[in-house]
Amino acid sequence: MSHSLPRGLGVPRLYCVIGHPVAHSLSPKLHNEAFRKRRLPFCYEAVDVSPRNLGHFMKEFRQKYAGANVTIPHKEAVIKYLDRLSPEAESIGAVNTIVNKNGVLIGHNTDVYGALYALQKIGRIRLKGKRVVVLGAGGASRAIVYGLTKAGAKVVILNRTLSNSKKLGHVFGAEYGPIADFQNHACDILINTTSVGMWPEVKGTPLSRLQSVLNMQGKKPLVADIIYRPRMTKLLRDAKKAGCKVVTGDHMFRAQAAKSFELWTGLSFP
Ligand code: ATR
Repeated sequence: MSHSLPRGLGVPRLYCVIGHPVAHSLSPKLHNEAFRKRRLPFCYEAVDVSPRNLGHFMKEFRQKYAGANVTIPHKEAVIKYLDRLSPEAESIGAVNTIVNKNGVLIGHNTDVYGALYALQKIGRIRLKGKRVVVLGAGGASRAIVYGLTKAGAKVVILNRTLSNSKKLGHVFGAEYGPIADFQNHACDILINTTSVGMWPEVKGTPLSRLQSVLNMQGKKPLVADIIYRPRMTKLLRDAKKAGCKVVTGDHMFRAQAAKSFELWTGLSFP
């Protein structure tokens, strides 16, 4: 089967994910498979770029790469090396996808799409009017809080460091508090954006008393995690035990990847 490619898609191109660390990333496997399935002569690699080397790396980027994904800890720092931002990336203040359009570097944020897709399509929940507790106030949280607020949800940001949740709460007009206050915030949706529970520290959970708090609240929220390794985090396992529906992080991961792929190729993700 042959695809009719948009102009320029027959030329080999190189893509990458930059992060630190980045060796564990599933993006190369996912995108290389997608390129192969779409019969594109493209290649995708993981590049470990330390914060100190980001400026040097971005100098060479324009000549070498047709696009990239950006992950921890560069999502915000990379912005100053780009020429333009999509309105979403601008509002969020974080970039996870770069498109090199004839030498012009454009920053996008497809994490927003990934999170909303997972909650709405996989979790089958309407966000408008729903009360959502977001755990964490870092870069991932920024994207998700932005998306949820735009979709009409009522967001509460709970974080270990109160000053960080306060800052984010003010930016997006959301409620905020310390994570220790979780028991006072009954919700329809709970979403973890912290790194707690991520491999290899798989026994960790941002809410150690989740089951008893949910039983006390008498509510069974939809519980989602952005962590995709492991797929079932301790938080999700506890939520399931408490009778909640859960959405695993691999759905968000795939959805953001699909959107990045579309931005680079103009083709749908296979
Ligand atoms: P990302 O860009 O992936 O969101 P980040 O900006 O480093 O990463 O944010 C990490 C988030 O996880 C923060 O909200 C952080 O809380 P603090 O603001 O208090 O640092 C949260 N986090 C990290 N480790 C944590 C832990 N052990 N317990 C609770 N929260 C934690």
